[in-house]
Amino acid sequence: MSPEQENILEAHGVTKQFGGLTAVNDVSFAIPQGSIVSLIGPNGAGKTTFFNILTGLYKPTLGRVAFSGKNITAGRPDKIMALGVARTFQNIRLFGTMTAIENVMVGQHARMKAGLFGSIFRPPWVRGEEQRVRAKAAETLEYVGLRSGVHDQLATNLSYGDQRRVEIARALASEPRLLLLDEPTAGMNAQESESLTRFMQKLRDDFGLSILLIEHDMRVVMGVSEHVTVLDHGEKISEGEPQAVRSDPQVVEAYLGKQEAERQRAEQEGAV
Ligand SMILES: Nc1ncnc2c1ncn2[C@@H]1O[C@H](COP(=O)(O)OP(=O)(O)O)[C@@H](O)[C@H]1O
Ligand SMILES: [Mg+2]
Repeated sequence: MSPEQENILEAHGVTKQFGGLTAVNDVSFAIPQGSIVSLIGPNGAGKTTFFNILTGLYKPTLGRVAFSGKNITAGRPDKIMALGVARTFQNIRLFGTMTAIENVMVGQHARMKAGLFGSIFRPPWVRGEEQRVRAKAAETLEYVGLRSGVHDQLATNLSYGDQRRVEIARALASEPRLLLLDEPTAGMNAQESESLTRFMQKLRDDFGLSILLIEHDMRVVMGVSEHVTVLDHGEKISEGEPQAVRSDPQVVEAYLGKQEAERQRAEQEGAV
């Protein structure tokens, strides 16, 4: 296998049960290095739960996850982040009492040398590091398109689109190799979604970042993904190239219901 084709992440037989509910059921999944892939499926399909397993927030009931060849199954979230996996959340989670730039500085923590000792006693080298961290955070915010006028505003006072930008900047600040985005375009208008789509491609091209996207907007999914995996009731029901997945009768059924799927099937058969 050539290096380009290696998988940066592999999940094998991942299952997650909450009491009697199987939220993710025996899902195997891979992300080729440097690719943008999507995870789609109706509400409650298990997508966010799967993210939570990949990032160490949940321990899978069964199965294993490897990042860059290392077993990270049920690893601590901070350890997994330090290895190079960063994410954003379906419901934006910024530190509300911090400014935009401070939120991004926190993201860099995984790459900082000053530990607890340094943060309390603040020797000169720590202060130097802090200045570098601030400058780098400003750079990252500019990169994601947040104008410098609002860098020092409280994160929660920013517009929804800008909060998304800050969250992505915070994720990027940990210098990830794999970025997981949980419904990043939710609440965005068509123009903002389009611009985020282009931004994802830029991230991949600029940094060789691999991206896993959970997304409801099919235009975004179709426009940006090299590969799409579909979950329904916790199970993987389809995967492949976006066009093929979109016309898979099982996927149509999961999204539109059985009746509509049958109507479309009949229509297609009629057309042959
Ligand atoms: N912490 C939890 N405790 C119990 N049930 C959960 C928990 N997290 C998710 N679930 C359930 O697991 C299923 C999948 O949820 P989720 O992963 O959020 O789906 P999606 O992101 O695809 O909409 C849902 O039925 C949800 O209620
Ligand atoms: Mg979700």
